[in-house]
Amino acid sequence: MAAKAEWLVEERGATEVWTIDGEARRNSLSRAMIAELLGNLDRIRGKRSLRCIVITGRGERAFCAGADLKERATMSEADVHAFHESLRSAFRGIETAEQAFVAAVNGAALGGGLELALACDLRVAAAHAEMGLPEVGLGIIPGAGGTVRLPRAIGVGRAKDLILTGRRVGAAEALALGLVSRVARPGALGEEALALAEQVSQNAPVSIRQAKRAIDGAFHLPLEEALAFENRMYQDCLKTGDRLEALRAFAEKRKPNFKGE
Ligand code: COA
Repeated sequence: MAAKAEWLVEERGATEVWTIDGEARRNSLSRAMIAELLGNLDRIRGKRSLRCIVITGRGERAFCAGADLKERATMSEADVHAFHESLRSAFRGIETAEQAFVAAVNGAALGGGLELALACDLRVAAAHAEMGLPEVGLGIIPGAGGTVRLPRAIGVGRAKDLILTGRRVGAAEALALGLVSRVARPGALGEEALALAEQVSQNAPVSIRQAKRAIDGAFHLPLEEALAFENRMYQDCLKTGDRLEALRAFAEKRKPNFKGE
């Protein structure tokens, strides 16, 4: 018998919804779940018809409660090491994918769970969601991008406030910090995350990819280098048929039909 899938994958036109199917363990990050995530990332590489992925967790309690601490207790140091590497590469895979990723934070996003959300391009939270990086209370530090991506998302001072205290913030504070860009109306998280994904999906795929690269790649560079980097990302868009299609669509007063090339 085939093993139970760790993720539910649902196709919605140009968007896919990937749901962590581990409610009983609060959607925590297990080895099987990360292996399947890496497989999904492989599957979508170069898939032009797919523009956006929404990542969420099953149920209302947790988006993802971080590392599966029960599995972790059974792992050797070498196992932990290998798992950590696969986590790092899965999160980097999300960040560098050509598609845009939306985290629909449907409940607690803690530790590696928040790091998963931070690897996504956009974050929308349910009003009851709580987020935090509690690792310093567990004798470790956020090690799957948290100390790197959180300061980039919300600034160094605010990131230290969260990481050094390990405290959890609710959706309203997360919004004020810029940790999420939207808080959904009660009961409407799925709908609002999908609407956001669909809004992104209407744009030129190459532009989405190049804008992601420009923002992520130029952020830490000195101004002149950052502007040169942006220019390289821009120049790649100029070569595409989609740019010409957008100009034709404008002249013909219709919506462009983008092909991703
Ligand atoms: N790994 C494995 N199992 C986990 C887990 C995790 N990270 N987080 C929760 N669970 C399990 C609990 O052990 C419990 O299992 P049980 O029914 O066999 O006892 C089940 O999920 C429900 O947990 P509970 O705490 O009762 O759920 P809740 O909905 O009240 O709270 C959380 C959810 C996520 C807020 C809470 O479980 C929590 O704080 N978890 C720890 C998060 C954490 O510190 N992660 C590590 C970051 S480095």
